[in-house]
Formats: sequence, C-alpha cells, structure tokens
Amino acid sequence: MLEKQLNTFLANELETLKAGRFLGMSCQEPLIVLLSGQLGAGKTTLTRGIVEGLGGVIDDVSSPTFTLIHEYQARLSVYHLDTYRLKTSAEFFELGVDELLESEAVVLIEWPELVSEYLPADRLEIEIFHQPENTRELTAQATGPTACRVLEKWRELLRDP
Ligand SMILES: Nc1ncnc2c1ncn2[C@@H]1O[C@H](COP(=O)(O)OP(=O)(O)OP(=O)(O)O)[C@@H](O)[C@H]1O
Ligand SMILES: [Mg+2]
Repeated sequence: MLEKQLNTFLANELETLKAGRFLGMSCQEPLIVLLSGQLGAGKTTLTRGIVEGLGGVIDDVSSPTFTLIHEYQARLSVYHLDTYRLKTSAEFFELGVDELLESEAVVLIEWPELVSEYLPADRLEIEIFHQPENTRELTAQATGPTACRVLEKWRELLRDP
C-alpha cells in the first residue's frame, strides 16, 4: 500500500502556522486532512496556516468548536469541520458531510476519531503532540496517492523553504 510519513518539531506557534502554510501551498488538488491531538495541541493554529497557504484569508479562521462547519474561499474551497461536540457518527453525516467530501475541496477535520472509519481511505492524517517546554511535535501519515503527493511537496517545503 502507498504510504508515506513525515515528522517535524514545532518550537512555537509561529512554526505551527508556518508548517500549515507550507501544507496549504502543497495542496494542488482536493484533499482530506484529519487533525488529531489533545485539547490545545495546535490543530486550529495549523488550520489557519493551511488556509493562508491556500491563498485564503486567515483573519476569520476561528476554532469551529461552536459552529461545526467553516467554509473559506481560497485557491480551492476549504471546509474546516469539528466533531468535538458530536455524539454519534450519524450526526456528522446528517450535516451533509458526504457532499463536502465529494466536492473539489480541501476538507480539514478536527477530532476525526469518531468518524474516521467512514471517511475515504486516501487522506492525510496529522497528529500534534505536546512536548516539554510548551513545544509541539507533528506527525503526518499519507494513506493514499493524493495525500502522498501532497506530503512529498510539503516535506520539500519544510526542508527547503
Ligand atoms: N508549536 C507550538 N508551540 C507552542 N504553542 C503552540 C504551538 N502551536 C500552537 N500553539 C498554541 O497552542 C494553543 C492552542 O492552539 P489551538 O487552538 O490551535 O489548539 P487546538 O488543538 O485547535 O485546540 P482545541 O482542541 O481546543 O480545538 C494556542 O495558544 C496556540 O498559540
Ligand atoms: Mg481547535
């Protein structure tokens, strides 16, 4: 199976934003991104960077904890979903998520654990971990051809901006 991984250290919030920007710049085609990590890990911060890297406006990227779906206009449409408050996967699909997943968009999903088994197999799975002295570590795994292409571009930008 096609699979690729990436690992990077994020010393502060600016580095999380920058890593997100590089990921957004690497997205040349629709992509599904799963964003895991404990409360306050930096998932929404990374999302702000991704939207900016896609050429969208970052001012309005708030945490979608209260509104479940945020949409941004960028080089590709971006949907930012948060399932934190959902109790069942059925609630997720009642929101019309199937349509979003089939649209030509970048779909970012915070707290994907509840629904991940129902999502397409080709996706970029990101996890952010707290590290000592208020730093973070990010791991990413691409699980299909689209995600692998994006991950390779992302890796190049992280290595050689
Ligand atoms: N690499 C980093 N090092 C230190 N702090 C960071 C880093 N990245 C982000 N932060 C900070 O962590 C805090 C939480 O970030 P953020 O809201 O993005 O997390 P989250 O994972 O979306 O949280 P939630 O689970 O509540 O949605 C923010 O104050 C942000 O500035
Ligand atoms: Mg968040």
